[in-house]
Amino acid sequence: MTRAPAPAAHRWPRLPGIGYGADYNPDQWPREVWDEDIALMREAGVNVVSLAIFSWARIQPTEDSWDFGWLDEIMDLLHAGGITVDLATATASPPPWLTAKHPEILPVTRTGETLSPGARQHWRPTSPVFREHALRLVDAMAKRYADHPALVAWHISNELGCHNLYDYSDDAARAFRAWLRGRYQSLDALNHAWGTAFWSQRYSDWEQILPPRLAASHPNPTQQLDFKRFSSDALKDYLRAERELLRGITPDIPITTNFMVMGETKGMNYADWAAEVDFVSNDHYILPSPQAQDELSFSANLTGNIAGGRPWFLMEHSTSAVNWQPVNRAKGAGELARDALLHVAHGADAVCYFQWRQSAAGAEKYHSGMVPHAGRDSEVFRSVTTLGQRLKDLAPLAGADRAPARAAILFDWESWWASEQDSHPTELLRYRAEALDWYSAFLALGVRADVVPTGTALAGYDLVVAPVLHVVPAPLAKELTDYVAGGGHLVTTYFSGIVDENDHAHLGGYPGPLRDLLGIRIEEFAPLLPGESVALDDGTTGTLWSDRIEITDEASVEVLASYRSGELAGRPALTRRTPATGNGSAAYVSTRLGHEQLPGVLARLLEAAGIEGELPAPARGKVELTVRAHQGHAYWFLINRTEEPVDLTGIDGELLTGETAPLPARGVAVLRRDLP
Ligand code: GLA
Ligand code: GLA
Repeated sequence: MTRAPAPAAHRWPRLPGIGYGADYNPDQWPREVWDEDIALMREAGVNVVSLAIFSWARIQPTEDSWDFGWLDEIMDLLHAGGITVDLATATASPPPWLTAKHPEILPVTRTGETLSPGARQHWRPTSPVFREHALRLVDAMAKRYADHPALVAWHISNELGCHNLYDYSDDAARAFRAWLRGRYQSLDALNHAWGTAFWSQRYSDWEQILPPRLAASHPNPTQQLDFKRFSSDALKDYLRAERELLRGITPDIPITTNFMVMGETKGMNYADWAAEVDFVSNDHYILPSPQAQDELSFSANLTGNIAGGRPWFLMEHSTSAVNWQPVNRAKGAGELARDALLHVAHGADAVCYFQWRQSAAGAEKYHSGMVPHAGRDSEVFRSVTTLGQRLKDLAPLAGADRAPARAAILFDWESWWASEQDSHPTELLRYRAEALDWYSAFLALGVRADVVPTGTALAGYDLVVAPVLHVVPAPLAKELTDYVAGGGHLVTTYFSGIVDENDHAHLGGYPGPLRDLLGIRIEEFAPLLPGESVALDDGTTGTLWSDRIEITDEASVEVLASYRSGELAGRPALTRRTPATGNGSAAYVSTRLGHEQLPGVLARLLEAAGIEGELPAPARGKVELTVRAHQGHAYWFLINRTEEPVDLTGIDGELLTGETAPLPARGVAVLRRDLP
């Protein structure tokens, strides 16, 4: 299990109030556009831009020539315009001269194909040749701009792992072996962990070990899990290499890299990466679905908790449509401001977009920007300018931490990775979807919940939901047991407590080390076929999964619902154990109820934990509440989740932005309240 390390000492770039801006790519435009850019940035209230992210080929046109003139000029122009710079190290996309000379930096797929240059991020995370050239560029950038007054932060690379996370090249194989030697020390330990007695996989020499390349059947599952761990670590190691170089030259400039806590982007263990940066940054794009807004909230919430509750930087989102979905929906009225402020509600102290000016050429020309193709005279630019003003009104809250909720959802990267591997009881299980469904249930009930990575201290929470907590090593089992013994209310679900850190099944009945805590024992899983469902006697319907549950401690376990149909009819489906000592409880949900049915179950569990919403009852579920706090004040963010106005008169506090009587459809209001 990877523990969430304590976030690094938080160092924030020197920005006036809340940061506002975008990726800025002036090298895509003729010089005469730059003056208009600066004028429009000032009009919009922009105070920070991320510069030179994809400029390697422009800065270093050949191996031995450098062209900083244009970058010097735009840095100076931005500074003169009062705009600060989050300067990229420019290493994200290697130039053609580099890949032509060194094709051995190109990533290799699982099936053995070498990726061609021509798009971006075509480099192996473990390539020593790539690293040497990239660090030469970082060194040149850092030395040139170390003392530039516009420089407020370093932006390492870009979305590390977006396209090059899994590389199966010989470089990767070498680095994987070195990583495995570090983890296991001996081949015996590796053979045990990987269970190589199975299918004649026993290794007698480290050199025999490969990444899990396309094989004749299912590759070894622990090898696959370790390759996921290794691949995340390889990029983290690269991040450190750039960082150490930068710290040596500009020790006072804080360093970040943009994470992608969003949707099914799961390969980078950001809970583990957070300690590597001076401040956490995230990129988020709306993924169309009935839970789209909940997903944004979930991602922002998790980002805020990965950042240890301290402020974080929204490095990218979109003013309107993106270009990379099958159909790219334009945002509707009010969505630009709502989406941006929802991130601020969860702790973002900077709101930036991809990108400043919508490209005229290239693969992203249909991706929205702050200045669209239509130019200044557009609804998007007017909305951008209005948002700039609203962010100025929120300047007093810059620096405020997230105020912890009473409930939490435990989010575990290892369980995400391991639970979705191949040759499992079902390939339909989606870890993050189950977690998001629980989060939607909290939102529907109007109860705040923090989404926290494993390793976060749980004791402060009255109720913790740990959905699909698949990987449970002994220390985590103890932590959960102690949590309940200390009065905490734990809720967990199907396919939890199944394996240890080596992906070996816990024996003696599921859910292994959580059996006693839950007072149940499961002999066999009963996953449901696509389209199949099972009725429960509380009126709900389960899909995806069911379990043959035996109650092992009749005295302390209450059956909250039983199966009413199928093979398991009459047997328990939802259980809760209330141990004789202490005030805690441990509940188990054996099927997938989905975001529409979970509120009913969750309401019962919250009631037992004595938790209810903080807003007046009629507003609960319609309005998302988040709270940030500092300097004697609490900031209440009220976000309308509905398409109707919601009356919020009677909630006291000084209105910093928006309206509450009523809160308009898609509206966001922020109230400043005195802390008791
Ligand atoms: C990512 C990248 C950006 C851009 C956007 C488009 O976030 O970092 O360079 O490609 O996607 O949505
Ligand atoms: C085949 C193989 C066995 C085993 C089973 C699993 O029969 O011969 O080794 O893999 O499939 O169903």
